[in-house]
Amino acid sequence: MPGPLRILSVVGARPQFIKAAPVSRAIAAKAGLAEIMVHTGQHHDAGMSDVFFAELGIPAPAHHLGIHGGSHGEMTGRMLAALEAVMLAERPGRVLVYGDTNSTLAGALAAAKLAIPIAHVEAGLRSFNRRMPEEINRVLTDHLSDLLFVPTQAAIANLAREGITQGVHHVGDVMYDATLAAGARAAGASGILARLGLAAHGFFLATIHRAENTDDRAALAAVLDWLKARAAEAPVVLPLHPRTEKMARAHGLSLDPLRVIAPVGYLDMARLLSACRMVFTDSGGVQKEAYFHRKPCVTLRGETEWVETVAAGWNRLWRGPDFVAPRREIPDYGMGDAAARIARLMAACGRNGAARPP
Ligand code: UD1
Ligand code: UDP
Repeated sequence: MPGPLRILSVVGARPQFIKAAPVSRAIAAKAGLAEIMVHTGQHHDAGMSDVFFAELGIPAPAHHLGIHGGSHGEMTGRMLAALEAVMLAERPGRVLVYGDTNSTLAGALAAAKLAIPIAHVEAGLRSFNRRMPEEINRVLTDHLSDLLFVPTQAAIANLAREGITQGVHHVGDVMYDATLAAGARAAGASGILARLGLAAHGFFLATIHRAENTDDRAALAAVLDWLKARAAEAPVVLPLHPRTEKMARAHGLSLDPLRVIAPVGYLDMARLLSACRMVFTDSGGVQKEAYFHRKPCVTLRGETEWVETVAAGWNRLWRGPDFVAPRREIPDYGMGDAAARIARLMAACGRNGAARPP
């Protein structure tokens, strides 16, 4: 009797912990699968990492590589070498990667070079902006993967345009699974509104962390000025990403009168999302979560990968037309069973990987 199919999951950045939570649960519940969790260390502050493992019951990583900082090439290269060593030692039957960070690409590349089949969760997203490090990471990861778990119809079309049609499965969005799992708990467990003295529907929620918005002084000043203008209407609560904190300080930019708070855990974030009036963000995940909580969103970028949120009237681009499409529901993200479908498909695919043409 062969042992379980051992899946080595690579995570490293905040959104990956959140995406991994429902998938890890589904792997644990699926007979014939076992998981080896590897944390690259890309995000390392307690409030950017540990809090999610604790709150969401994610298994403690079997390997923690402690790699963060440095240039993109340096960080990715160090992760590549360290992940290869872990994969050689563990000999997993499959590697599972999430999203579009440097940890994602390093995991996929290390596995590909060892001929280990790769599953990519959140495959097929495109901004069509190759100056974004994330766009490079996702294009390369998709081309290395044999199982591509896509959250949207647009992602299927994006992959087809690049010649990828085999191994593509529209499973829905694992972040929706995570939102549903947190939903009721967040209302009870989070005291953040009282702590911040916020009235439900009396504030805006904002997040900023994209390199394109933070690294250049004029770009960061423009985003902050726009948020500060909104603060005349209602408090703008800004859980501040460490990158943005560092860059605002380096550029000598004031954050007043924004209600700046440290990054929050997932349950507090869910509570803020459910209670806010509107969301302003350059985050991929937060754009969708705004919709999950049925809050209108302004995306602080020139383009979005989550085009269906714009088409369905829940999201608009910062500098895009003021016109907002009539609001409708978005079927793409599924029913909250994306993680279970992912586990089922990986189990069905077995040890040899999905067939992909050479
Ligand atoms: C990364 C991902 C981005 C994702 C984001 C989620 C890449 C290329 N980018 O961007 O796709 O949307 O995570 O949040 O992989 N820092 C700390 N403590 C931490 C984490 C970060 O101090 O726990 C600071 C460090 O100064 C670091 C900087 O933030 O140099 C940037 O972190 P990094 O992981 O390189 O990129 P993010 O901007 O977080
Ligand atoms: N998030 C959080 N606390 C915060 C800010 C964000 O828990 O202070 C969550 C958010 O709800 C979403 C995820 O982090 O689930 C998004 O991560 P991030 O914006 O860092 O990355 P992106 O989605 O842009 O890659």
